[in-house]
Amino acid sequence: MPGRILAPGFIDLHVHFPQTDVIGSPADGLLPWLENYTFPHEARFADADYAESVASVFLDELRRHGVTTALTFCTSHPASVDALLRESERRGLRMIAGKVLQDRHSPDGVRDETEQSLRDTEALIQRWQGRGRAGYAITPRFAPSCTEAQLRGAGELAAQYPDVWIQSHVAENKDEIAWARQLFPDARSYLAVYEGFGLLRERAIYAHCIHFDDDDRALMRDTGAAAAVSPTSNLFPGSGFFDYEGARRVGFRHGLASDVGGGTSFSPFHTMLAAYYVGREGQTKPGLSLSPGNLWWQHTAGAAQAPGLEAVVGNLTPGCEADFVVLDPKATPCWRARPATRATSTNCCSR
Ligand code: GUN
Ligand code: ZN
Repeated sequence: MPGRILAPGFIDLHVHFPQTDVIGSPADGLLPWLENYTFPHEARFADADYAESVASVFLDELRRHGVTTALTFCTSHPASVDALLRESERRGLRMIAGKVLQDRHSPDGVRDETEQSLRDTEALIQRWQGRGRAGYAITPRFAPSCTEAQLRGAGELAAQYPDVWIQSHVAENKDEIAWARQLFPDARSYLAVYEGFGLLRERAIYAHCIHFDDDDRALMRDTGAAAAVSPTSNLFPGSGFFDYEGARRVGFRHGLASDVGGGTSFSPFHTMLAAYYVGREGQTKPGLSLSPGNLWWQHTAGAAQAPGLEAVVGNLTPGCEADFVVLDPKATPCWRARPATRATSTNCCSR
């Protein structure tokens, strides 16, 4: 195919398949957004047929945008995991998914029950972990939505099944952080809550990681946990900006994510552009100008390092899965009109 770009399939490190229809719902911040749109919508996934229909749309959208690997939240209903992973198996995508754990501060319809939620998680691990291209992620929604008993149980499962992934949210929004501090007054920081329950380790992916100090960054680095940077979600609910300069200085793993439906687009190109804006707004001035090569890397080979899949997906090296997308650099009239001399450098780099 002359003139086309053959590239590794994109990796989305953090997305919510049930929030496909929540994209673009305006709110005064994260917590009202959850309460007014997200929780009521996720309650609909008690209906397995509905879950299956949304899973189909979601996976077709990922594939249409060239995303072939994703770490996705389902809902608290175990059947939502089965719906997603069955549909994903049919399409041959690499999907890591988990039943959300949320046994408190959650309304009827999405709140689960501590013991049953842990039994359901273990049954899903046994059904899906390592089956074809599927993987399982233990998925505490965020510390404020989980009792200590649920977090402890999640940590025990994480120790018992070291190949399984962990996914959650941390340090996204100032009100959320104040709430976490109130609920866990003995923890040094919000991130340290997860450490206390054995939920920081290799294969643990935390969405956002916006309002961190250097001790948090060092904790990420030293435990091997990784950040799913979600720039359209930084911008839409207005949570703040991921500090790229801090991440580089301390050196913890991070890669890009859509965070649909807090994020606004499945498109890796929208996400990469938003990451450029977020880099400019970094908390330490002056902001960075992230290069196109670096942005692309954060959505492919760099993203693959976060969940420990660098030998599996995210680049074209021998031994990796043959997981490619074909891109047409002349797909639009604007791009066809662009002189070749203005072509953007796609030099890849490791930072
Ligand atoms: N924190 C807890 N749940 C969620 C969610 O669904 N989306 C986002 N962006 N943050 C969360
Ligand atoms: Zn999220």
